[in-house]
Amino acid sequence: MPLPAPRPAPPAIAAEPCVMRTGSWRDYALLDSGGGRKLERFGPWVVTRPEPQCLWAPRLSSEAWSEAHAAFEPADEDEAGRWKLHAAAPASWPMTWREVTFQARLTAFRHLAVFPEQAANWAWLSDRVRACAASPRILNLFGYTGVASLVCAAAGAAVTHVDASKKAVGWARENAALSGLAEAPVRWICEDARKYVQREVRRGARYEGIILDPPKYGRGPGGEVWRLYDDLPDLVSGCAALLAENPSFLLLNAYSERISGLALAGLLGEALAERGGRIDWGELALMEEAGARGVGLSFFARWSAG
Ligand SMILES: C[S@@+](CC[C@H](N)C(=O)[O-])C[C@H]1O[C@@H](n2cnc3c(N)ncnc32)[C@H](O)[C@@H]1O
Repeated sequence: MPLPAPRPAPPAIAAEPCVMRTGSWRDYALLDSGGGRKLERFGPWVVTRPEPQCLWAPRLSSEAWSEAHAAFEPADEDEAGRWKLHAAAPASWPMTWREVTFQARLTAFRHLAVFPEQAANWAWLSDRVRACAASPRILNLFGYTGVASLVCAAAGAAVTHVDASKKAVGWARENAALSGLAEAPVRWICEDARKYVQREVRRGARYEGIILDPPKYGRGPGGEVWRLYDDLPDLVSGCAALLAENPSFLLLNAYSERISGLALAGLLGEALAERGGRIDWGELALMEEAGARGVGLSFFARWSAG
């Protein structure tokens, strides 16, 4: 009697967390932190923003902090508030990371239309795409202003970028043009991430790499409600079904406080139980320009086929 085929091994989950550190680059620096705030440089513009976890004392003088061009003053515990300008800031200005150029902007939600700590993920994504034998198909869900999509496109991928916000997709397309990637194979889709994945599963679509960076709470363009704790498991299992026969990776990132890299790794381990490979997990951190002090900002788990 023939022996049954061996069951594929579950992914090996790393025993220890990994801190993915982002230091300064030409267009970004974490100049200082402390007193519940960060002092950062985005291109030529220096800004301060609330960061309650920075419980230590700032290293730089109060004069250095007061010279910032703009300070974000929160209106509530959430992300909303307003920027107090100490100099006439432009509506947007360009920043570059490696071959990708994007516009920084002072948004009403304390962000600058880019998350600099993601540079550690961009470097990893670029390496994974370049390591593929042929141009991989990459799906980027909750893609916002498109930097990860453009990093993958610049590395040779065909990208499907999905975000619920028409404005964010518009900014992402502008960033593609700024990066000289307007003609690159990127499909820009304004759609609810869950609906899009369900449709792709029905269509039998396949991707070599998938990126997801879901917020804690969000809304699709048709008002569809997204809640991380309720909706992430189904979305991740939909993504697992979309992986090609010879996939490369699945990268999951989350900014929510009540989550951890280990929790995200557990979820990926379940969804990819028959895929082998390995899962690394941990957090993304920005490192101060002078010194070893860092600020952890988001959690990640990433599955690699090999
Ligand atoms: C945390 S940001 C993602 C950051 C991005 N990955 C980056 O590194 O720049 C969250 C994004 O999710 C989008 N979003 C929220 N709810 C959504 C939904 N139901 N479907 C698709 N996108 C959604 C928002 O418009 C926003 O652009």
